[in-house]
Amino acid sequence: MSLIDLTAVSFAYGRGRPVLDGIDLRIEAGHNLGIVGESGSGKTTILRLLLGLVRPSSGDISFRGAPIDPGDRSFMRVFRRAVQAVFQDPYSSLDPRQKIVDIVAEPLRSLKIATDVDAAVAEALSAVDLPREAAGRYPHEFSGGQRQRIAIARAIVSQPELVLADEVVSALDLTTRIRIVELLNVLSANTTLVLVSHDIGFVALLCQDLVILEKGHIVEQGPARDILSAPKHPYTQRLLESTPRLPDFA
Ligand SMILES: Nc1ncnc2c1ncn2[C@@H]1O[C@H](COP(=O)(O)OP(=O)(O)OP(=O)(O)O)[C@@H](O)[C@H]1O
Ligand SMILES: [Mg+2]
Repeated sequence: MSLIDLTAVSFAYGRGRPVLDGIDLRIEAGHNLGIVGESGSGKTTILRLLLGLVRPSSGDISFRGAPIDPGDRSFMRVFRRAVQAVFQDPYSSLDPRQKIVDIVAEPLRSLKIATDVDAAVAEALSAVDLPREAAGRYPHEFSGGQRQRIAIARAIVSQPELVLADEVVSALDLTTRIRIVELLNVLSANTTLVLVSHDIGFVALLCQDLVILEKGHIVEQGPARDILSAPKHPYTQRLLESTPRLPDFA
């Protein structure tokens, strides 16, 4: 059974025009999915829908075959524990007034997960290659790449099935990007990833499946290998032409 299904999903902010229209996609456990499109194509909005932060204007979203129902508290607890996210900007996504231990432990608290918090935080920090002492420090003491590691530690501390990552490497320099890709690759042994990016080369490094989004419509979807070797839609062809580096799929 798939983890999350979107069927004929459309979404508009307020009374505006739809920013997503007729989206059909399926997230299977163990298959990382990349969502690629230009700025404004609706990538972050899809992640908001997948997190249950906003509701579709029409269409259905289900988790493990059951419709997502914000009114069902026990269902939402299971869902929120299973699906975590890492956001776009490592400078604004961490509360500057909180120590790292409290930032990373936040999902355990909000989801009321009974566990040894210090041990769980230490394990999550070690999984992202940060020292144990990081727990007692504040976000401003860390670089952009380290902050992104902290945000990833927070996303994995509750041992979710699915981690959604929104442009996690765009703000980082090339060397730091490569290290984050390596880290995500290790994490994807235990967790399914949905990576959102305008950079098809980045998502192709980690994702088996791709969705290409143009102005709120899916123009192409399927195995990353097929799309990279023979892009069908002119928009995908343009995205590939504007990508300087691509992994070797030979
Ligand atoms: N809170 C909001 N209220 C109204 N419109 C919004 C809101 N957030 C996004 N939009 C609009 O929805 C469309 C899709 O935005 P979204 O943020 O999903 O795009 P994106 O693909 O993530 O872009 P980027 O690559 O720049 O992050 C855009 O036209 C945007 O202006
Ligand atoms: Mg975005």
